[in-house]
Amino acid sequence: FEKIPLNITVNNKAYSTSVEPRVTLLDYLREELHLTGTKKGCDHGQCGACTLHADGERINSCLSLAVMNEGKKITTIEGLASGAELHPMQAAFIKHDGFQCGYCTPGQIMSAVACVNEGHTGSRAEIAEYMSGNICRCGAYPNIVDAIIEVSK
Ligand code: FES
Repeated sequence: FEKIPLNITVNNKAYSTSVEPRVTLLDYLREELHLTGTKKGCDHGQCGACTLHADGERINSCLSLAVMNEGKKITTIEGLASGAELHPMQAAFIKHDGFQCGYCTPGQIMSAVACVNEGHTGSRAEIAEYMSGNICRCGAYPNIVDAIIEVSK
């Protein structure tokens, strides 16, 4: 496939590059930029492991072609902390044991940040509904909700 131009900002760093139009944003980040914090679980929009923010909006990066993100600002789990200081949601996940194996955690945290930013924190049920696209095989769900409640206060 012929490559086409892509201008994209990832974690405040601008890239002018070219990619094959069939490459997903997830594969572009992981294989071209070596930002492997964003995980590939199902590659079909079912698990949420690949969740990140595009222009501040939560998306499944396995369902988005890289070229669809022309001109956008992407934030991945690698871009959340401020230097050595964890993002409050990262700290809350640690405090509340919001993970076991950790594979789903980057996606969980990116969704959790969006959950708070969008104000879907009125109740445990509302949080659970918002987070329902992020699957955790270890079943850390109650602790994840605890972390989100703490950050939303
Ligand atoms: Fe994208 Fe599962 S890898 S939703």
